[in-house]
Amino acid sequence: MFHPRYRPRRMRHDAFSRRLMRENTFTADDLIWPVFVHELAGRAPVASMPGVERLSIDELLREAEQALELGVPVIDLFPVVDPSCKSLDAAEAWNPDGLAQRAVRALKQRFPELGVMTDVALDPFTVHGQDGIIDDRGYVLNDVTVDALVKQSLSHADAGVDIVSPSDMMDGRIGAIRQALDDAGHIHTRIMAYSAKYASAFYGPFRDALGSAGNLGKADKHTYQMDPANSDEALREIALDLDEGADMVMVKPGMPYLDVVYRVKQEFGVPTFAYHVSGEYAMLKAAAANGWLDERRCVMETMIGFKRAGADGVLTYYAPQIARWLREG
Ligand code: PBG
Repeated sequence: MFHPRYRPRRMRHDAFSRRLMRENTFTADDLIWPVFVHELAGRAPVASMPGVERLSIDELLREAEQALELGVPVIDLFPVVDPSCKSLDAAEAWNPDGLAQRAVRALKQRFPELGVMTDVALDPFTVHGQDGIIDDRGYVLNDVTVDALVKQSLSHADAGVDIVSPSDMMDGRIGAIRQALDDAGHIHTRIMAYSAKYASAFYGPFRDALGSAGNLGKADKHTYQMDPANSDEALREIALDLDEGADMVMVKPGMPYLDVVYRVKQEFGVPTFAYHVSGEYAMLKAAAANGWLDERRCVMETMIGFKRAGADGVLTYYAPQIARWLREG
């Protein structure tokens, strides 16, 4: 009778030894929950993201209480502003009484122990849906945009935000924001840099949620977001952001870029995050709705994949659902 010399299956025979040799775990501590906040009362569904709703600040507080109770460490805010607040210079972005700033104040006042993060970028506030200020040919200007992002970051920090998260991909913005925050005394405000953010088609549903898809029209973001074909360039972007003072770095989107997450963690060993973006969420929801995939198992497999690749945490619209599943066990 043939006996193989090695039997990897031996350790898989029972649950106890499978548990014993498990290399990675995913817990609620690994979650950041992106949330859309709107000016209207109540809630409004996002058609291309079943289960995701835009929330008023009151509803946000309700959801935040539950998320906190479920052990989700951080909520990431995305304001959906009225079209009348959009302009060419995006000045609404640093309005001290703007939607994001009010949401931050409300959250920190009610739940001081909840981590609050804000997206720093101009796309919710520009009439053309670009993440920056454009010239007369539509090119996004780097340095004037950085000045605007600095003002936006300061207004969020003044409102009490814990983490600012620049998602714009302008050059030099991390250094400029760090310097301005420090000069204003906000030395504890952390920066999570969208360092390796790709020009991805997976952001489609997000732009619907924000209502910026129509503003952007047929234009794209290829002159600032990265080419999906590149990964050495991602390492260079990460190195620059770390040098400029980023506390945490992010790779975005998530699933198609696990090799980038892996390289970043191997190379730099810094707090590394992956954004499981709107299109990735929509794909899982659509397949689950058709009965084609087991939603819970596929979502958890996705999350452990991020951990295995080296991510310390994941931004995902599934965050409260995952925390609930983890609690159910
Ligand atoms: C914009 C921003 C985007 C996302 C987060 N911040 C969209 C974009 O760059 O067009 C995408 C998030 C998602 O798709 O879930 N600064």
